[in-house]
Amino acid sequence: MGNICRNKLVQMLDEAVDLGDPKAITEKIAGTLSAAFERGDFELPEEFTRPCTDCYARRLLHHDEERGYTAVVMTWGVGQATPLHDHAGMWCVEGVLSGRVDVTRYNLTGRQNGTYEFERVDQIQAGVGATGSLIPPYEYHVLGNALSDAPSITLHVYGGEMNHCCIYEPQSDGTYQQVKKALSYTA
Ligand SMILES: [Fe+2]
Repeated sequence: MGNICRNKLVQMLDEAVDLGDPKAITEKIAGTLSAAFERGDFELPEEFTRPCTDCYARRLLHHDEERGYTAVVMTWGVGQATPLHDHAGMWCVEGVLSGRVDVTRYNLTGRQNGTYEFERVDQIQAGVGATGSLIPPYEYHVLGNALSDAPSITLHVYGGEMNHCCIYEPQSDGTYQQVKKALSYTA
Protein backbone atom coordinates (compact mmCIF):
# COMPACT_ATOMS: atom_id res chain seq x y z
CA MET A 1 0.00 0.00 0.00
CA GLY A 2 1.08 3.52 -0.68
CA ASN A 3 4.14 2.82 -2.82
CA ILE A 4 3.40 5.71 -5.13
CA CYS A 5 3.62 9.18 -3.63
CA ARG A 6 2.51 12.39 -5.29
CA ASN A 7 5.98 13.02 -6.76
CA LYS A 8 6.14 9.60 -8.36
CA LEU A 9 2.66 9.98 -9.81
CA VAL A 10 3.61 13.38 -11.23
CA GLN A 11 6.70 11.85 -12.83
CA MET A 12 4.50 9.19 -14.48
CA LEU A 13 2.09 11.86 -15.71
CA ASP A 14 4.98 13.96 -17.08
CA GLU A 15 6.20 10.99 -19.09
CA ALA A 16 2.72 10.36 -20.47
CA VAL A 17 2.08 14.00 -21.41
CA ASP A 18 5.48 14.15 -23.14
CA LEU A 19 4.13 11.63 -25.67
CA GLY A 20 2.46 14.66 -27.27
CA ASP A 21 -0.57 13.08 -28.95
CA PRO A 22 -3.89 13.16 -27.02
CA LYS A 23 -4.75 9.54 -27.83
CA ALA A 24 -1.34 8.27 -26.75
CA ILE A 25 -1.34 10.51 -23.66
CA THR A 26 -4.79 9.48 -22.46
CA GLU A 27 -4.13 5.76 -23.05
CA LYS A 28 -0.89 5.94 -21.11
CA ILE A 29 -2.42 7.89 -18.21
CA ALA A 30 -5.45 5.58 -18.07
CA GLY A 31 -3.15 2.54 -17.86
CA THR A 32 -1.01 4.16 -15.18
CA LEU A 33 -3.97 5.19 -13.01
CA SER A 34 -5.75 1.85 -13.39
CA ALA A 35 -2.72 -0.13 -12.31
CA ALA A 36 -1.90 2.15 -9.38
CA PHE A 37 -5.45 2.46 -8.06
CA GLU A 38 -6.35 -1.23 -8.46
CA ARG A 39 -3.31 -2.23 -6.44
CA GLY A 40 -3.99 0.49 -3.87
CA ASP A 41 -0.49 1.79 -4.60
CA PHE A 42 -1.23 5.49 -4.64
CA GLU A 43 -1.43 7.28 -1.34
CA LEU A 44 -3.38 10.52 -1.52
CA PRO A 45 -2.50 13.30 0.94
CA GLU A 46 -5.20 13.33 3.63
CA GLU A 47 -6.34 16.91 2.92
CA PHE A 48 -7.62 15.80 -0.49
CA THR A 49 -9.92 13.12 0.84
CA ARG A 50 -12.55 15.13 2.74
CA PRO A 51 -15.98 15.41 1.12
CA CYS A 52 -17.95 18.66 1.44
CA THR A 53 -21.57 18.81 2.47
CA ASP A 54 -22.94 21.21 -0.17
CA CYS A 55 -21.25 20.07 -3.35
CA TYR A 56 -18.58 17.70 -4.60
CA ALA A 57 -15.07 18.93 -3.71
CA ARG A 58 -12.49 19.78 -6.36
CA ARG A 59 -8.86 20.21 -5.27
CA LEU A 60 -5.74 20.86 -7.33
CA LEU A 61 -3.15 18.11 -6.84
CA HIS A 62 -0.68 19.28 -9.47
CA HIS A 63 -0.31 21.91 -12.20
CA ASP A 64 2.49 21.72 -14.75
CA GLU A 65 2.50 25.04 -16.56
CA GLU A 66 5.24 24.08 -18.95
CA ARG A 67 3.62 20.85 -20.07
CA GLY A 68 0.19 22.42 -19.78
CA TYR A 69 -1.69 19.86 -17.72
CA THR A 70 -3.35 19.63 -14.32
CA ALA A 71 -4.30 16.83 -11.96
CA VAL A 72 -7.40 17.46 -9.85
CA VAL A 73 -8.86 15.32 -7.07
CA MET A 74 -12.63 15.26 -6.72
CA THR A 75 -14.39 13.93 -3.65
CA TRP A 76 -18.03 12.93 -3.87
CA GLY A 77 -20.49 12.71 -1.02
CA VAL A 78 -23.44 10.38 -1.47
CA GLY A 79 -25.94 11.88 -3.94
CA GLN A 80 -23.56 14.55 -5.29
CA ALA A 81 -23.22 14.89 -9.07
CA THR A 82 -22.26 17.33 -11.80
CA PRO A 83 -24.75 18.72 -14.29
CA LEU A 84 -24.33 17.66 -17.93
CA HIS A 85 -21.10 19.39 -18.95
CA ASP A 86 -18.23 19.57 -21.41
CA HIS A 87 -14.49 19.91 -20.79
CA ALA A 88 -13.83 23.17 -22.64
CA GLY A 89 -12.24 21.22 -25.48
CA MET A 90 -9.52 19.57 -23.36
CA TRP A 91 -8.55 15.93 -23.27
CA CYS A 92 -9.10 14.34 -19.88
CA VAL A 93 -8.62 11.06 -18.07
CA GLU A 94 -10.78 10.31 -15.03
CA GLY A 95 -9.95 7.44 -12.68
CA VAL A 96 -11.69 6.08 -9.58
CA LEU A 97 -9.42 6.10 -6.55
CA SER A 98 -11.93 4.94 -3.96
CA GLY A 99 -15.61 4.09 -3.77
CA ARG A 100 -17.88 4.08 -6.82
CA VAL A 101 -19.08 6.73 -9.25
CA ASP A 102 -21.62 6.70 -12.05
CA VAL A 103 -20.84 8.14 -15.46
CA THR A 104 -23.54 9.01 -17.99
CA ARG A 105 -22.30 9.77 -21.48
CA TYR A 106 -24.12 11.91 -24.03
CA ASN A 107 -23.69 12.57 -27.75
CA LEU A 108 -24.33 16.02 -29.15
CA THR A 109 -26.96 15.54 -31.85
CA GLY A 110 -27.96 19.11 -32.68
CA ARG A 111 -27.07 22.73 -32.03
CA GLN A 112 -28.95 25.86 -33.09
CA ASN A 113 -28.99 29.41 -31.70
CA GLY A 114 -27.66 28.39 -28.28
CA THR A 115 -30.05 25.45 -28.01
CA TYR A 116 -28.44 22.04 -27.81
CA GLU A 117 -29.76 18.55 -28.34
CA PHE A 118 -28.19 15.50 -26.76
CA GLU A 119 -28.79 11.81 -26.88
CA ARG A 120 -27.96 9.78 -23.80
CA VAL A 121 -25.51 7.05 -24.81
CA ASP A 122 -25.15 4.96 -21.67
CA GLN A 123 -24.57 5.01 -17.95
CA ILE A 124 -21.89 2.97 -16.25
CA GLN A 125 -21.02 2.42 -12.64
CA ALA A 126 -17.29 2.60 -12.16
CA GLY A 127 -15.36 1.15 -9.25
CA VAL A 128 -11.79 1.45 -8.00
CA GLY A 129 -9.26 1.34 -10.85
CA ALA A 130 -11.81 2.11 -13.57
CA THR A 131 -10.78 4.93 -15.90
CA GLY A 132 -12.47 6.88 -18.67
CA SER A 133 -10.87 9.07 -21.31
CA LEU A 134 -12.46 12.02 -23.03
CA ILE A 135 -11.09 13.45 -26.23
CA PRO A 136 -13.13 16.28 -27.77
CA PRO A 137 -15.62 16.30 -29.44
CA TYR A 138 -16.64 13.29 -27.29
CA GLU A 139 -16.66 15.08 -23.97
CA TYR A 140 -20.27 15.47 -22.80
CA HIS A 141 -21.14 13.66 -19.61
CA VAL A 142 -22.54 13.64 -16.09
CA LEU A 143 -20.39 12.29 -13.28
CA GLY A 144 -21.60 11.65 -9.78
CA ASN A 145 -22.02 9.47 -6.77
CA ALA A 146 -25.78 9.12 -6.97
CA LEU A 147 -26.05 5.33 -6.86
CA SER A 148 -23.75 4.23 -4.05
CA ASP A 149 -24.02 4.63 -0.29
CA ALA A 150 -20.48 5.80 0.57
CA PRO A 151 -18.25 8.74 -0.41
CA SER A 152 -15.93 8.30 -3.36
CA ILE A 153 -12.78 9.91 -4.77
CA THR A 154 -11.72 10.40 -8.39
CA LEU A 155 -8.56 11.77 -9.97
CA HIS A 156 -8.86 13.87 -13.14
CA VAL A 157 -5.97 14.73 -15.42
CA TYR A 158 -6.72 17.54 -17.90
CA GLY A 159 -4.79 18.79 -20.91
CA GLY A 160 -4.83 22.32 -19.50
CA GLU A 161 -6.22 24.08 -16.46
CA MET A 162 -9.97 23.80 -16.55
CA ASN A 163 -11.06 27.08 -14.95
CA HIS A 164 -14.32 27.11 -16.85
CA CYS A 165 -16.52 24.77 -18.80
CA CYS A 166 -20.05 24.78 -20.16
CA ILE A 167 -22.97 23.12 -18.48
CA TYR A 168 -26.17 22.20 -20.28
CA GLU A 169 -29.45 22.83 -18.50
CA PRO A 170 -32.40 20.67 -19.53
CA GLN A 171 -35.43 22.58 -20.83
CA SER A 172 -39.05 21.47 -20.70
CA ASP A 173 -39.05 20.65 -24.43
CA GLY A 174 -36.19 18.16 -24.10
CA THR A 175 -33.49 20.47 -25.46
CA TYR A 176 -30.63 21.95 -23.42
CA GLN A 177 -29.45 25.51 -22.87
CA GLN A 178 -25.70 26.11 -22.73
CA VAL A 179 -24.45 28.07 -19.71
CA LYS A 180 -20.79 29.05 -19.20
CA LYS A 181 -19.58 28.13 -15.73
CA ALA A 182 -16.47 29.32 -13.89
CA LEU A 183 -14.74 26.54 -11.94
CA SER A 184 -12.76 27.04 -8.77
CA TYR A 185 -10.97 24.83 -6.28
CA THR A 186 -12.33 23.80 -2.90
CA ALA A 187 -10.35 25.14 0.05
FE1 LIG B 1 -16.22 15.92 -16.44
